[in-house]
Amino acid sequence: MKFLIKKQIVKFRICHYNPDLDDKPYFIDYDIPYTDRQVIMDALHYIFQNINSSLAYRWNCRSGQCGSCSININSVPGLACRINVDPSKKYVLEPLYNFPVIRDLVVDLGIGFKRLAKLRPYLERISTPDRPEKLTRESLSTAMDLHSCIQCFSCYAACPVVSSTKQEFSGPIAMRELARFEFDPRDEGDRVQMAVSSGLYDCTSCELCKEVCIPKHIDTRRKAIEGLRARAVERNMGPLEEHQSFIDKIKNTGYSIDVITKPFTDQVPSIIDVEDPIDEVTFFPGCLINLRLQHVGHNIIEVLRRNYIKLHIPKDFVCCTSVAFRTGSRNVTSDMILKNTKYFEKLEVKKLIALCPGCMSTIKQDWPVVLHEQGAQPYRFEPFDINEYLIREIGLKNLNTQELNPLNIKVTYHDPCHLNRSQEITKEPRILLKLIPGLKFTDIQQSDRCCGAGGGVRAGRRNLSEELSRIKVKLLTAPNPDIIATSCPFCFVQLTDAIKRADLPTKVMNVIDLLASSYRAESLK
Ligand code: SF4
Ligand code: SF4
Ligand code: FES
Repeated sequence: MKFLIKKQIVKFRICHYNPDLDDKPYFIDYDIPYTDRQVIMDALHYIFQNINSSLAYRWNCRSGQCGSCSININSVPGLACRINVDPSKKYVLEPLYNFPVIRDLVVDLGIGFKRLAKLRPYLERISTPDRPEKLTRESLSTAMDLHSCIQCFSCYAACPVVSSTKQEFSGPIAMRELARFEFDPRDEGDRVQMAVSSGLYDCTSCELCKEVCIPKHIDTRRKAIEGLRARAVERNMGPLEEHQSFIDKIKNTGYSIDVITKPFTDQVPSIIDVEDPIDEVTFFPGCLINLRLQHVGHNIIEVLRRNYIKLHIPKDFVCCTSVAFRTGSRNVTSDMILKNTKYFEKLEVKKLIALCPGCMSTIKQDWPVVLHEQGAQPYRFEPFDINEYLIREIGLKNLNTQELNPLNIKVTYHDPCHLNRSQEITKEPRILLKLIPGLKFTDIQQSDRCCGAGGGVRAGRRNLSEELSRIKVKLLTAPNPDIIATSCPFCFVQLTDAIKRADLPTKVMNVIDLLASSYRAESLK
């Protein structure tokens, strides 16, 4: 007996454009039979061979080595030969953003290559080296990590700063190229000066360049941009004047901002006890919640109390030094980190939670490096973002959802870069929002697009920062929400300012604020 197996079909919508003939780009829909282990390029070949032989696309090695097949796949740049087709999805394929289109999916990369050529991409030597020249694996390790780029330009196409009209930023690929020579002990060119004049301080630390670097997973933000910023500070070429005041405050007061009201830690007891606690944690408020957005700290207390979690509030913590890492001012980081970790050791902290993703990503990723460099013991507490803690550690089934009251509001969500890409926390805040009865949640496309607050850009590059937040607010308010939820105090401030400038009625609130309002049965309309 024969069985007829119905072939699975995948839907592709592909951008076509011939600048010599067409007024503007247009899309054609194609139904492609799905085959096992199919990649996007297989679908393009199928269309070319069976449906439309005029489709223009570029490819060469088919193995993620040549970089020529990079296109936008559902608005994200990536290699067509490396990205698997998921038969449950629909695909929109477009040419790479930030480049002129030659035809259909083929772009003119000339502008990118010209920019790279201007950086003198070869070893510059002034003195004659000793022969034989002694090189160690360690001395070349950073340069080698950055060397593996295949010049697919996905990072350049993805970078929100390159897309912005407000800045002439040479882009992540240029920063990677300059850092590759800067960290090569043989090179004697002034790469730091070149980086500063090519927009070194324009990067928002959003990490999109790392996320789209599927071929080589190059960490351009940390290894290239923050590495070059640290060298710029060593050579008195950085940070920007606006950043220096934050660094001076950290050195002088232990906080990155001025104390203008009673700190949150002085408004509350050091232990918030509950009857029969299911867990016990310590809260790291960070400078912004402790000194400006104290209501968020009070709302954390409310949410944890409602969930029978005992909370410790450390009174003598100091800045996490995120701003110092991001701007290259490494000279203040170790003192503060050692002070914090010794203090938490003394308090016998077992679990440390933070609501600021800038603080928590620094605690998770930068503190261990500094402690190792300083020969200190690694910290012994477990670090958690608050969303991560509630969903992954406490667990959905243990959360108190009975006391949540309806909030009849429409909400969209902004993914903070340091929560999403730095800590891979995206589902958890959405799960928490959807627990609130009556709340209508709409996810937007590009919910993870940077709002322009990070990397010292809000302080140091105000026009660029405002342009990025204007674009993000337009996306977030498209579904006409009452409230934009986010999970970062810094993004909260940035989006609130952008909304004020646009004179919109939408409010910005933290996910924790919304949960606390729901527990308290507050009306938010
Ligand atoms: S971190 Fe973001 S802003 Fe910075 S270079 Fe990468 S993509 Fe651009
Ligand atoms: S850094 Fe990665 S994404 Fe950027 S051009 Fe090189 S290989 Fe492509
Ligand atoms: S075809 Fe060479 S990287 Fe995809």
